[in-house]
Parts: sequence; structure tokens; C-alpha cells
Amino acid sequence: MCGIVGYIGKQKTVNILLDGLKELEYRGYDSAGVALLNQNKISVYKALGKLNNLEEKINTSNDNESYDLGIGHTRWATHGKPTELNAHPHLGEYSYVVHNGIIENYKELKDELISHGHKFVSQTDTEVIVHLFEYYQNSLNSCQEAFEKTVERLEGAYSILLISKACPENIFFFKHGSPLIVAHGMNEGEVLFASSDAPLIGLCKDVVYLEDECGGVASKEGIVFFDESQVQWGSLPSSKQFAQKEGYRFFMEKEIYEQSNVVSDTMLGRLQDQSITFDEFDASLIQGINEIKICACGTSYHAGITASYLFERLAKVKCSVEIASEFRYKEPLLTKDTLFIVISQSGETADTLEALKMAKKNGLKSIVVCNVDNSSMTRVADHSVLTRAGIEKGVASTKAFSTQVVVLWMMALYFAQQKKVLSQEAMHTELHALREVPSSLLVLDKVHEKTRRLSKRYLHGHGFFFIGRDVFFPLALEGALKLKEISYLHAEGYPAGEMKHGPIALADPELFTIALMPQHLLYDKIKSNVEELSARDSTICAISPLSFDLADDFIQTNVKDHYMLEFFEMLVVLQLLSMEISVRLGNDVDMPRNLAKSVTVE
Ligand code: G6P
Repeated sequence: MCGIVGYIGKQKTVNILLDGLKELEYRGYDSAGVALLNQNKISVYKALGKLNNLEEKINTSNDNESYDLGIGHTRWATHGKPTELNAHPHLGEYSYVVHNGIIENYKELKDELISHGHKFVSQTDTEVIVHLFEYYQNSLNSCQEAFEKTVERLEGAYSILLISKACPENIFFFKHGSPLIVAHGMNEGEVLFASSDAPLIGLCKDVVYLEDECGGVASKEGIVFFDESQVQWGSLPSSKQFAQKEGYRFFMEKEIYEQSNVVSDTMLGRLQDQSITFDEFDASLIQGINEIKICACGTSYHAGITASYLFERLAKVKCSVEIASEFRYKEPLLTKDTLFIVISQSGETADTLEALKMAKKNGLKSIVVCNVDNSSMTRVADHSVLTRAGIEKGVASTKAFSTQVVVLWMMALYFAQQKKVLSQEAMHTELHALREVPSSLLVLDKVHEKTRRLSKRYLHGHGFFFIGRDVFFPLALEGALKLKEISYLHAEGYPAGEMKHGPIALADPELFTIALMPQHLLYDKIKSNVEELSARDSTICAISPLSFDLADDFIQTNVKDHYMLEFFEMLVVLQLLSMEISVRLGNDVDMPRNLAKSVTVE
């Protein structure tokens, strides 16, 4: 994944690059680096860890040179450990490159280049790009031809920016699979690059979201594309939306607390008195549709599984859910009577994006449920339904999930309405419940305090099982994922009824069971499942509106009249519990180790 930025212009290059990287740091924070170039000098700064380490290094360097252009990178390690040597920009003899993506044939290229006398210093795939460029440049003596020949040889997914002392006025760029945007700055002769629009907002006159196989060369004279036919100029919003912690300790905490408000935005204009409407599509969408296939990754995948219960139960449509990275390579049978829905907070996750492209290629109608307008997926899908959660900064996703579930629930009801498969009374109950979602997502002081107190009991042990049935099974998966992501403790989400087919063998007092026990969905069934675990001495933490004698710990939720409202109440409890455990363990809640918010490599 990683984030890349580039700048040509008269402003202080390093500042523009660092500001841009700050906006992209969520994509990876293993290391960061910049390379700066003018006619006389090329300088490179790299630092391990978060961006402020790089900033500090640059500030203490007393480098007062003014640079005409530069490129920058924030890394999430794919090939090679997170070390300074593996940090971008990567260099050859006289050129530098930053890269987002993976070069799949880098081993062959590396062997070939070594046989031509090139010396490699890092373990990354990226380094081959700059050596390949110099290999061609040395014989052709034309940067542009050398760059074009280089990208012809690269396999995989990549967006790259390359600079070279051989052509010190230029930044070369190319996109294949990973996102890249090029822009004219506000000032004469200014060109900017970034792997998403956030760093560019407020700085640009116009922008091009590059299509795959689009590349070119930029200088202060302007931007020349290798193939103009693919280029479409557009604009960005003029002011930036900033996310601040607003007094909360972490972005994650703020985003948990925000859920109640943002879901109201999610429903705005869509939830009517007696019905659901979507401006993004009309009834013709479901004509000829007999099946829905959902594809996503991570937390969005859990929203997808939740939705599959709702589509079948409410809209009476067959619905299956796939993990995007599995779906892509299983040679799926795709038929045109299937509506393909992808779910993605960022709209950039590489596997989900490729799955969407596959479905489109096979002629399926497609929808993306997404939080980021103008993201790659919103530009590919036939219809985009925005979740309107606002910027989500915490790497552990919270409000993106609740808003996705609300959108998908409303879509299930919209389809039910069009197909006339729900009674008026049932529809009324669902719409009434939807209206209550914001209050179910409110964080109650007593619940937060309870999770804070309980967190100290759950810091060790040999593992957690989060268990639930029906939609509470994907919720259990999500609870376990949250805990893993930020506490680094082992946790699994499991269908409660399935525990006896294996996992129950693990039960002992050091096995923590977090049991989701809603009042309105299969309560007696889940109760029996929890009793079975309790009988085998597992430590039980029950989350339920109904008290449960066998629980070692009990977090009481409010009595609600619809299971989906219980779902949202329990979601908040699970999010808070994992956050408080992470706090006690002294972890970085917003930027947990080894993770990145947007995964643009497969
Ligand atoms: C990463 C993030 C997860 C997210 C997943 C899918 O792994 O850390 O929080 O759920 O990507 O991201 P998407 O943007 O497609 O929802």
C-alpha cells in the first residue's frame, strides 16, 4: 500500500511533501522518506517509524538548499523488513524512485540487472525500478525512453514517481493498478502528485485521476502524458475536511462516540416515513436479479456477512459473501442475474477493487458501498452508495462498519419494498427500528466505565472466543478482529453453535468467551451454547440485556425491541472493550503495529 507524493514548484518542496505525507500516513507508517532535487544537488532523507521521525531528521539537518522538485513516500512494508535501508525513495547511481504496489517479477529483473553489474542494497521489490531505468538510460541517453521501457517490463500493481539527475527538471510517473493523481497547482509552473486526493485539496487548480496504463512526464512547463486519450481533467473540493480528536484520547475513541451522529447522516434522505429511497439507483437495478454477491475485506467483509442475513431474510434474495482475495482466484462462476456489491471504507483496497473489475468485465451490475467519494471503486462501479461516515482516521475501523451495516440494511429493505415481499407491518417495524439506530449507538457512561474496569481482567490468558449466532456471528468476528488489531491478543470470532465441533476443546479458565446474547434472536440457543462453555470452565463475559447467572462478567445492554438495535448496542461495547484493553496494554490505539488503513497491495 504506502502513500506517495510529488511536487514541482516554487514553494518549499520539502514542506509540501511532508504535509502531503501526513495526509497519507494512514496508508503505512513503517518508515518514510523524501528525495529532493535541483540542478546542483540531490538530497535524500529517510527515517524509520512514523513521519515525525522524518520531520525531526530534516529539521535538524539544517539543509537550506532550495529544491525545484521532490518525491516522498510513507511505507507499509511488503518486501523487506521495515528498516531505513528498505525505506523509499530507492536510489540507483543517479536516480530515485517511490513506489506504491508490488513488482511481482522483481526477482527475475534483479538477477538480470545484477548480471549487468548493478548493485542492490535493499531487500525491496522497488529497487529494481530505479536500476532498470538507469540500465536503459545508460544506453539510450533519453530519460523518457528509458522510463517507458522500464514500465513495460514491470509486472504487478504499481504507481511510481521517478526523478533523476540525468533530467533534473522532470518527475516521471506511471500508474498500473495502484491509485495515482496528478494535478496542476494554483501557482504557475506547479505540478503535484499524490496517491489519494487528501494531500491535494486546497492546493490544486485541476486534477487527473490516472487510469491504468497512464503515465507521463512533468516539469515546470507542464504535464505531458504518454497517451492523451486516457486523460480527463476534473476538480477537487476547494477546502479540506480535517479530522481532529476534539478532546478524545484517540481518533478511534472519537469515531466510536461519533457513530450515533454519523448514522443519522447515512440515513438522511434515504429513510422516509413509509419507505426507503436511494437517489443512487432505481428499481430497474433489481430487474432480472436473482442473486446478490458481496465481496469485501476486513471489517467491510463482516458488514457483508451481516448484510447477507438481511438480504435473505428481508428481501428474499439469495446472497453470498466472499473475501475479495479469495474470490479473485477461485475462478468464480458469474452469471448476469447476479448483482455484485463491493463494500469498502476507503474504496481503494486492491483485492476488492480487482474483484469489482472482474465482475464488471463479466457483465454484472455493480454497486459499491463506500465512504470515500471519488475513490477508485466509486469510479469503477455502476452505482456508488456513500456511507457518509466522515473521515475515519483510526486504523481499527468503527464508524465505517456501523454506517455500512445501516446502508446495507436499508438496501435490503429497498429491495424488499420493490419486490413486495415484506408485509406492511413488517416493513413498519423495520423502518421504526432504523430510526432508533442513532440512540442504540450512543455511548453510555456506565457502559464505557464498565469496559474500562473489566479491561484489566482480560490482558492475558491463552485466547478469546467471541461467539454469536445469526447476525451476531459476523458481529463476533468484528469484535475479535478489533481486539486482535489493537491489543495484539489472539481472538477468534465463532458461530456459537459450532463451538462444540472443535473449539470447545480449548475451554479452560484461561480461555475467555465473549458471548453476544441478544434478547430477540435465538436467545435460548445461544444460552445453551454458553452454558456448555461454562460447564467446561471457560471464563465467560456475557453481553446481553438479560442477566445471566453463569457469567463471570456481565455487561448489560439496554432492552430494545429489535435485534438489529441490540446488534448496534453490542457493537459499541465490543469496540470500547478492545480499545480499553489496548490502552491498558500501552499500545498505539490509532496506529497499531504492522497494519495500515488502506491496503492497496493484493
Ligand atoms: C485494512 C484495514 C481494515 C479494513 C480493511 C478493508 O485491513 O486495516 O480496517 O477493514 O483494510 O478496507 P476497506 O477500505 O476496503 O474497507
